[in-house]
Parts: sequence; structure tokens; C-alpha cells
Amino acid sequence: MKFDQSKQWFERACKVIPGGINSNVRAISEPFPLFYARAKDAHLWDIDGNEYIDYVLGQGPMLLGHTPAVVLEAIRKQLDLGLVYAGQTEAEVRAAELMVKHIPCAEMVRFNNSGSEAVHAALRLARSATNRKKIIRFEGHYHGWFDNIAWNPMRPGVELGPRETPVLRPSSKGQPIEDAANLIVCPWNDAEVVEQCFATRGDEIAGVICDPFANACGIIPAEKSFLENLQQLCTRHGAVLIFDEVITGFRLGPGGAQAYYGVTPDLATYAKALGAGLCVSALAGKASLMSLFGELSTVHSGTYNSNPVAMAGTLAALELLLAEDGAELAKANRAGKHLWDGLAELSHELGVPITFRGVPAEFSTTFLPEDAQPLTDMRSALQADAALLKRFWSSLHHEGVQMTAFGIWFLSTTHTEKDIEKTLIAARRVLSRIMEPDPIPR
Ligand SMILES: Cc1ncc(COP(=O)(O)O)c(C=O)c1O
Repeated sequence: MKFDQSKQWFERACKVIPGGINSNVRAISEPFPLFYARAKDAHLWDIDGNEYIDYVLGQGPMLLGHTPAVVLEAIRKQLDLGLVYAGQTEAEVRAAELMVKHIPCAEMVRFNNSGSEAVHAALRLARSATNRKKIIRFEGHYHGWFDNIAWNPMRPGVELGPRETPVLRPSSKGQPIEDAANLIVCPWNDAEVVEQCFATRGDEIAGVICDPFANACGIIPAEKSFLENLQQLCTRHGAVLIFDEVITGFRLGPGGAQAYYGVTPDLATYAKALGAGLCVSALAGKASLMSLFGELSTVHSGTYNSNPVAMAGTLAALELLLAEDGAELAKANRAGKHLWDGLAELSHELGVPITFRGVPAEFSTTFLPEDAQPLTDMRSALQADAALLKRFWSSLHHEGVQMTAFGIWFLSTTHTEKDIEKTLIAARRVLSRIMEPDPIPR
């Protein structure tokens, strides 16, 4: 593969755009941040003409593939009618109605533009409703980049402190320690520690936020009993349970993680698949909480919230995703199962130890030592062989297959049998040489 055009543009970009990128996560790119020309269904083309089978899918949003006809048609129609009105459109009501119909906790919905904003709205609401300050979050979970929640990320080689009471670690320089004053960080999947927090500080705790699949640690799904415990503790102590479904929303089915687990939170955040690639997010939840925004004293605002173009596309995406109880999603799950099974067979045949977690439409591959402890939280995820994952990810890239650098494979409804077969051929080539001590020749 040649990357000459991307290289030229990257050098040009670096002069006017810090790091040449507009989201720091894109710095983790192979062989450097590339420039793209187009995308269709499950395929991406960079500006040098290299083609990739895409399992990154824009870091998750493109569940319907890159060019879903119904979404594009809806956006095109709206483009001629105006971009932002500072007013309402029918599409936002219809989209909210669909969410209310399919998501267990959703009695009302508010729209934003990004997952980080939806999380921000959820925390604001939890604090407003309870008149308390503290939020329990879990080590290694990612809830966006805002100062008051972006703490204790998954990062190898740093001081973690005691498991029950981790040292507070900002995800970035420039985050004052005061911004974590109202956070309590707990280990994932450990109900006893959370129970202890409620026992000692229950009357200070406004809410608990978690990503039910803990996507930032590879994937570490919640144990069902753990989520049930969180729900009971929140109910008993009058705190708000928030599921961050920015990734799990619509990927685990029309009702997301809450339907998958059968545990209904008070509030839930959505983005990514919700807008099929458009800038849109949502906070959904119980009317008793959500209606506080309607009383106006609890502020939620944004110039671009529910902008007509995003809402037209979102409505079209939801209509497709939620029809016939999520029949469309079955395509992504079928393709994902084919890929998961194929990779598992290769791992067995070639003697490369890979652990799989998640659901077929969204699963992670982790390289674990034979004597590894079970993966239940961020600290156990640190046992994974990061160097081997990096080699797998970068080698696949040069074979024309993109998976996320964190070991997650996102499937779309447009991945074909042929795409999966090609991916497995590439994976066989990579895995058969991955354990060799020398760097893989390119
Ligand atoms: C679980 C989760 N929550 C929140 C966010 C933040 O969303 P955004 O990048 O749209 O601000 C992300 C982004 O990856 C996420 O994975």
C-alpha cells in the first residue's frame, strides 16, 4: 500500500490543525492519520485509492453501513428546506416517539449533538432532581471528554491506587482536580464496593453512570446481577441510575443494553448509531426526571440541538432500525457471527490465544496470557497483551481490513459474506505470523 497523498495532506494539515487531526483518538492511526476520499456500505477508500473493509465504522455510528439510502434521501430532501430554524420540526417528535416506543426507560427524550453532551445533560438532570452532587462512575469507562466526568481512563502503566478507592486520574492535562470533587470512582462489576459507598455516603449520591458493555476496556460486559444491584441501590437511596448507551444503543437491539439485560435505568444516553453518522445524540428517561428540563429552571440548550437535517436523517435511521422488532439489525449480527466464529477457529488452529467478548454486532478480540484472571473490570483488562493487539490491528490495516485499535469490531448491516471471507483470509495471514519474534515484514 502507498500513502503518498495522505502523507502530503497530513503534513499540510499539521501546519494549521494541531496534530493534523480534529479528535485526539485519531492520532492512533496506521501508519499515520490518513485522509479518506469516500465510503460505501462496509468499505472505505483513502485518497491514495487504498480500499478497506471497515469494522471501525466511524468509531461505531455506521451500523447501517456508510451510505444508507433511506437516510441519504431524507437528508437530501431536508437540505433544500433549510438547515437550522431555532424551532421545532415534525421529525424530532416522530424520532422521540419511536424511542419512547422501543426503549424501556424512555418516557421522554431530549436531543443533543454528541455523546459527551448527552452525558453532560444526564449528570445535570441527576443532580438537579436529587439536589445532591456526587456521581459514581467506574474505572476505565469512557463517557466523553468533558472535564467533570473524563476521569480514570483505561491507560496502562500509571499509578492506580487501591482497587476499592482508586487514585483520581484525569484523562487529560488541563483538568483541575476540583472537577473530580464530586466523582466517586469504583471498580466495575463489584457490587460490594458500590454498596459500601452508598452505605457511607448515600445521602450525597445523585447518580450512578455506567456503560453496560464498558467499551473502553475492549469490551467488558456487565454481569446482569451487578446491574440489578445498581438499580436496587439507586432506588433504595433515591439516586438516579444512568446507562450510557452511546455505543450499545440500537446495537444490542431496539431496546439497547437495558432490554438486553432486562434492567431499566432512570436515564440513558444515545449517540453513534442513533444518527447513522449525523451529529446527533439523545438523553431519554423517566418523565418524572426529564420533565424538569421542561420546567426551564434546569437548563439544557444548544443552537444545533435537533437541527432539521440531523433529525430528518435520524428519523429515517430509526424507522429502519426499529421496524419489525429490529429485523434489520439481524444482518449485522449474522455477519458478526460468521466473523467471530471464523476468527475463533483461526485462533484455535494457529494457536493464538484470543478471547472474544460482546455480541456479534459488536465484539472485541483480546490477547490474554494463559494464566490470566477472568476479565471483569479495567484492572483485569490490563493483563491483555497490548503489543500483540497493536501488531494484529496494524497488520490487518496493511491487509485492507480496519478494526478499532482497542480491539473492537463493529459490524454493519451491509457487511457481506464476501467481506467476511476476505477478512478471514487476511486474518489467517496475519495470525499465522503474529507470534513470530521479528516484526512483521510489510
Ligand atoms: C460510551 C460512550 N459515551 C460517550 C461517548 C462520547 O461521545 P462523543 O464522542 O459523541 O462525544 C463515547 C464516545 O466514544 C462513548 O463511547
